[in-house]
Amino acid sequence: MNKMNCDLAALLFDEFRIQSRVREIGMQITQEYKDKVPILVGILKGGFMFLADLCRSISIPVELDFLAISSYGKEASSSGVVKIRKDIDLDITGRDVIIVEDIVDTGLSLQYIKEYLSKHSPATLKTCVLLDKPAAHKIDVSFDYVGFEIGNEFIVGYGLDYNEQYRNLPYLGILKEELYK
Ligand code: PRP
Repeated sequence: MNKMNCDLAALLFDEFRIQSRVREIGMQITQEYKDKVPILVGILKGGFMFLADLCRSISIPVELDFLAISSYGKEASSSGVVKIRKDIDLDITGRDVIIVEDIVDTGLSLQYIKEYLSKHSPATLKTCVLLDKPAAHKIDVSFDYVGFEIGNEFIVGYGLDYNEQYRNLPYLGILKEELYK
């Protein structure tokens, strides 16, 4: 029994469900970008596991880069303040870029990232989000690829943390309220 399981109020998506949805998105990207070499920009830290699985589900050449941002710190709700902690290394000018993000809560981080990467003049800029929390949006935000729509619970696992822990769970779960309230 995984010790971290005791901190979950419920399992949200198991490994099988996640992997099968990630494979579907990978196949869609493979079809839509055939004849191209897109750059997948993973948003750290939360997006690392999704990106690792997604890129292995894509069967055309891709290039990988990472952008590290932080908006939450130790708080469980968004401060709306986005900081770039690690910039991209590749030149994305004139390239087809796909932002790979683990979760959209308020939408403020993704909006900031889109505006930031747009300044580098990519040929196209699309967004691929594993989890979308529509009830938490503070702005009008849309995506090109979405894994799952979820409710307003606090989710951990599969890259997502609370206080930097739980990222290594291979599935997604709802954290018990008493642990963060
Ligand atoms: C999380 C997540 C998104 C952002 C979404 O990152 O990875 O980037 O919050 O929230 P928003 O839609 O309200 O802006 P976090 O700042 O927790 O950093 P992490 O990925 O390093 O855990």
